[in-house]
Amino acid sequence: MSLSRRAFLGAAAPFALGGCRNLFAGGYAAPRRPPVSERINLGIIGCGTQAYGNVGQFLQDPRVQIVVTCDPVLEAPGYSYKAHLPGGRLVFKRQVDEKYGNASCRMEEDWRRVVDDPTVDAVAIITPDHWHALIAIEAMKHGKHVYCQKPLTVGIAEGQAMVRAAKKSGVTFQVGNQGRSNSAHRVAAELAINGYLGAIKSVHVAIPGGSGGKWGHGLETARRTIPPYFTKEAWALWQGPAAHWEDDAFIPGIHEPMCWRWNRRYGGGMITDFGAHEFDLMQQGLGMDRSGPVAIENFTAADWQDDRNVFSWAGSFDFDFVYANGVRVHVTNMKPGVGRGVTFVGEKGTVSTVGGLQRPDYLRKWNEKRDLKDSEIHLYRPKDGHSHEMDFIDGIYENRPICTDCEIGHRTISAAHIANICERVGAKTLKWDPVAERFVGNEAANALLEVPYSNGYTLAV
Ligand SMILES: NC(=O)c1ccc[n+]([C@@H]2O[C@H](COP(=O)([O-])OP(=O)(O)OC[C@H]3O[C@@H](n4cnc5c(N)ncnc54)[C@H](O)[C@@H]3O)[C@@H](O)[C@H]2O)c1
Repeated sequence: MSLSRRAFLGAAAPFALGGCRNLFAGGYAAPRRPPVSERINLGIIGCGTQAYGNVGQFLQDPRVQIVVTCDPVLEAPGYSYKAHLPGGRLVFKRQVDEKYGNASCRMEEDWRRVVDDPTVDAVAIITPDHWHALIAIEAMKHGKHVYCQKPLTVGIAEGQAMVRAAKKSGVTFQVGNQGRSNSAHRVAAELAINGYLGAIKSVHVAIPGGSGGKWGHGLETARRTIPPYFTKEAWALWQGPAAHWEDDAFIPGIHEPMCWRWNRRYGGGMITDFGAHEFDLMQQGLGMDRSGPVAIENFTAADWQDDRNVFSWAGSFDFDFVYANGVRVHVTNMKPGVGRGVTFVGEKGTVSTVGGLQRPDYLRKWNEKRDLKDSEIHLYRPKDGHSHEMDFIDGIYENRPICTDCEIGHRTISAAHIANICERVGAKTLKWDPVAERFVGNEAANALLEVPYSNGYTLAV
């Protein structure tokens, strides 16, 4: 991807970036790693549903100072779908101020002011998926450490660019796949990868399908006027690089909080949304979290509508990933009798997360029926009692690898994109080269590695 300064600044740019002289010259500012005596100054970018979880965690960490909240929306009642709580930058500024007992948290409508702010050390990107790569890469260029929500990207080329930027910048990067900081997830992966189950014979993954995952959110596709909580600028900032096909159409089932993920302009449907969690465990347990499958086979998918409807990704799907060592992973949407989770079937036993990571009898299917001792866990784990967010902060202070770096998040979501591309090109089988990160012998599929940006946005590392 190439960078066009004019295009970038010209796209919904109410101001020019000031203190970021290196930004467009391809230079990277050095990340700041304060001593432990100083707090990490954090900017929150995206103040909707998931921000309730992430901001709550960061506020509990005395090493963190949230200095700015950013969202195009100032305040919208019932905006977040978390119990219909309000969303917007003011809502989260209030939370921060209440916690710190002062009014010092700033607010920004435009994320570029946050990444351009020299007092900000790190950002948490909690926007819809179509924004992740652009914001994360610009943040890294400015030397900001990045906590970026899953799914990392909407296209494979975005992830490749992010991995390059993470390497060039040297920042600490945590992908919001918080499952990796969960001890049950870790034990399941450990059992699979480190020989406790014997050689892995097969893996089974189930993730929510289309309408089954809508959690009661609006399905309404009638066009409406844009709600008053969006100014003209805010609406353009929300859309960002996504294709506008009807500038003034607000479609509740697509544009209300959380709903966008089922529509291909903003997300990858359930295969990326929940694949981000389940494929993460699948690849970690197979020892493939910096690689990927060599093929996708037996692909079938159904139940999708055109882009102007809510569900523009398959609502039901069934396929196999094949890995270089011959292990076959069967992936399907959840259905009666097929619960969400990952099941590793080995020669000596089976472990399954179906039913939830918190389920007390989670490990009973493992034939030894005991928990692993600490000494038997070889996979990375955060410090005792540290959340995924705290692990990110540990990494900033200590300048060391943490739970879910950019490459791991990229490789996880690449598996999901491979499946979505298979659907797009109408193939039953595609071969994938995980080293070159290209499809083998299918140029129509390779043409979909890059998701085109609209509105003048371009991406460059
Ligand atoms: N890790 C998890 O378990 C988990 C759970 C839910 C959501 N998520 C992820 O969190 C992200 C946000 O999801 P959500 O459910 O909170 O969605 P949401 O629609 O409820 O909130 C997104 C927020 O981002 C804001 N936003 C849009 N464009 C922006 C921009 N340019 N700059 C700043 N803010 C912008 C929106 O106005 C909104 O307030 C998604 O990537 C989603 O996949 C992760």
